[in-house]
Amino acid sequence: MKETIQEAVDKRRTFAIISHPDAGKTTITEKLLLFGGAIRSAGTVKGKKTGNFAKSDWMEIEKQRGISVTSSVMQFDYDGKRVNILDTPGHEDFSEDTYRTLMAVDAAVMVVDTAKGIEAQTKKLFQVCRMRGIPIFTFMNKLDRDGRDPLDLLEELEEVLEIDSYPMNWPIGMGKGLEGIYDIYHKRIEFYHPEKYDNERFAMLNEEGELPSEHKLAQDSIYRQVLEEVELLVEAGNEFDADLVAAGELTPVFFGSALTNFGVQTFLETFLQFAPKPSAHKTQDETIVEPDNEDFSGFIFKIQANMNPAHRDRIAFVRVCSGVFERGMDVTLERTGKKIKLNNSTQFMADSRETVENAVAGDIIGLYDTGNYQIGDTIYSGKLDVAYEELPQFTPEMFMKVTTKNVMKQKSFHKGMQQLVQEGAIQLYKTYVTEDYIIGAVGQLQFEVFQHRMLNEYNTEVIMTPMGNKTARWVDPEQLDENMGSSRNILVKDRFDQPLFLFENQFAMRWFADKYPEVELKTLL
Ligand code: G4P
Repeated sequence: MKETIQEAVDKRRTFAIISHPDAGKTTITEKLLLFGGAIRSAGTVKGKKTGNFAKSDWMEIEKQRGISVTSSVMQFDYDGKRVNILDTPGHEDFSEDTYRTLMAVDAAVMVVDTAKGIEAQTKKLFQVCRMRGIPIFTFMNKLDRDGRDPLDLLEELEEVLEIDSYPMNWPIGMGKGLEGIYDIYHKRIEFYHPEKYDNERFAMLNEEGELPSEHKLAQDSIYRQVLEEVELLVEAGNEFDADLVAAGELTPVFFGSALTNFGVQTFLETFLQFAPKPSAHKTQDETIVEPDNEDFSGFIFKIQANMNPAHRDRIAFVRVCSGVFERGMDVTLERTGKKIKLNNSTQFMADSRETVENAVAGDIIGLYDTGNYQIGDTIYSGKLDVAYEELPQFTPEMFMKVTTKNVMKQKSFHKGMQQLVQEGAIQLYKTYVTEDYIIGAVGQLQFEVFQHRMLNEYNTEVIMTPMGNKTARWVDPEQLDENMGSSRNILVKDRFDQPLFLFENQFAMRWFADKYPEVELKTLL
């Protein structure tokens, strides 16, 4: 019998993996794909790193972009579920793209290096997940190496991220002394046998939560210590509550080692059990669109150019929110009312692109774009006529003045600026009187990619003058007086003509707030 839309949607699990660079995101992704049969051997997701990644090495950036593209959406089936993993670029290429990808997922997996604990970028990404209220699952990685005390790690996680946690399992030893994990949730022990992968790696616990006394580990001092710790955790710690997990208020914590494939399968299976299926989406006028609505709808959360350097194409990534996407279908682009036939669509596997025939809520499709789409656009079929909530813009922290080196190239300069801004590659501001261009980014690499792409795709050499870090605050146009600007708080407007100040520092902002107490200073995100 043919599957209904609802049945198909219920199988979808769409999530992103977030981490600080080097915590092991790529390694765990690869292991998940191996379980899902989406790749045949490790090393497919990312080539082995050769030496250090030099920021100014453009070849390297292009290569990285190429690779991050093929792996930016990965799909596989496991245990009757269809899993969609969205890649969030790590490394230096930290940018708004990373944030926006989190707008298109239903859950996040946070990978933490047990030797390092919660690091800066994990914290930033976590906060975006928190804002969305999506469930967050934690994988404490690299247990095969000596790391920090697990209790310390849990405490830091709760304190720094302000979220409750529940240890699904607890390590028995670490590094060379790693024996296994005490699986609190499944009431079993999973032994660390890097070379063996069958059910023999498990031993069920008895009613008291212990191994049978004849077991060789039963008298081991590390194991006895773990029993005490687990007792303490169960008594004094949080209770497991699936509703709190679903609300993003409790993070289940799993220990393991991605590299040696230890604890990853248990993690995947438990994760799939609790990760949410795609839910309804809210539109700008607060209408709720259910995923099984028979009309298709979705929003564009990412546009990537130069997917294939040979073709110079752009691909718009669409998160499907309702209905069934079918190749060749007609849709309306909500922003312009324009009708578009979706012939050229694609779906991504780890090592190839495949043409997508159909997709339902939770799935991600790629549309070849000739300049129709903008970040945040909604497309729909039939009479649905909805506009999904705007994607948040992120408050940039770094700014550059931009001009073109060759005044004869004004036309391509403006075209390039306009398209890159539409793609969300960079944020654009103009000063009030002179209309000078200022661009803003959340990560340094955004500037470098911008400059590189202006030259390569629009044949325009740009001159960027750093303005350093600024604190951007939006103000209500009604409260604005143009004399409020000064050298320490530059008044500019964004691409929607909304005014904002770029303050030199916190001090300058406080001074302004004291002087104009009635003016409300607003951030984006
Ligand atoms: P990322 O995507 O989060 O940046 O991290 P990635 O998976 O690339 O992992 C970063 C480094 O950490 C890699 O080593 C990887 O092999 C190692 N790693 C990942 N998971 C584990 C683990 O569970 N245990 C141990 N011991 N190491 C782990 P590398 O030397 O930088 O790269 P490579 O030369 O091994 O590819």
